[in-house]
Amino acid sequence: MYKSFYSLSKTPFSKELDVKDAYVSASLSEAEARFEYLKQTRGIGLLIGEPGAGKTFCLRRFSSTLHQAQYKVIYFPLSTGSVMDFYQGLAYGLGEEPKFKKTALFRQIQQGVERLYSERRITPVFILDEMHMAKDAFLKDLCLLYNFQMDSVNPFILLIAGLPHLKERLGLNQNRPLAQRIVTRFQMNALEKKEVPQYVNHHMKLAGSHMPIFEDSALEAIALRSQGWPRIINTLATHSLLVGCQQQKPMIDEEVVRLAAEEVGL
Ligand SMILES: Nc1ncnc2c1ncn2[C@@H]1O[C@H](COP(=O)(O)OP(=O)(O)OP(=O)(O)O)[C@@H](O)[C@H]1O
Ligand SMILES: [Mg+2]
Repeated sequence: MYKSFYSLSKTPFSKELDVKDAYVSASLSEAEARFEYLKQTRGIGLLIGEPGAGKTFCLRRFSSTLHQAQYKVIYFPLSTGSVMDFYQGLAYGLGEEPKFKKTALFRQIQQGVERLYSERRITPVFILDEMHMAKDAFLKDLCLLYNFQMDSVNPFILLIAGLPHLKERLGLNQNRPLAQRIVTRFQMNALEKKEVPQYVNHHMKLAGSHMPIFEDSALEAIALRSQGWPRIINTLATHSLLVGCQQQKPMIDEEVVRLAAEEVGL
């Protein structure tokens, strides 16, 4: 209902935001520079960040830049299914009928990767999201799985993403073989204070707003309470619009943001 009250044509701050419509923050463009580098070197990249920092969004954006004739993207969030499901999914993703035994499955995946890369000149891109949930045994497996021709070539891109404690996990002795093979690593930061108003206004514009709806003091309050984390900004801004509409306020002020923050427990 707030959409009509604020004359918006679309719901702002939606999860389904098209990657083309990203707000290009300093952190996002830095992450993208790392990804560009990874495209040249191939091999393993690491992307970490706090919840709601924009990791998955950034990964979605990265995969959208990859030309289908040159790259085959296989995306896996680790929260779904078992580790065996994951290996089988990899084989499927490579167009193979998955074997049942792990060793056979590994060989199959490796052969699938090599075939794609050397015969069809397509680089498989494996994107493993939410990897902080991975067990050590799985991290160890990855090292074996992504070892080609005695570790002399990288016919793939493997992007590992997760929460910051994934970095600590990789620092542990048993995970060092994988950690040492990471070509580029990047930690996504929160938006800078000056970026938050731009981020909010960017989303409002995308939703069809022609005039400012958030007062400067409201934008400042959002920046302060969200600490610049995109998902929190989205939640807070959405609730501010709901509260503002309930109170029939044509402009969102600091007080509306305070009430919205209370509502969402911030
Ligand atoms: N640069 C951006 N431009 C526009 N929207 C963004 C941007 N970065 C993040 N978002 C939005 O912020 C929200 C949170 O982002 P995302 O889901 O990618 O976070 P995450 O780091 O993967 O979080 P989690 O660790 O919980 O999985 C999403 O709705 C996304 O659309
Ligand atoms: Mg995510």
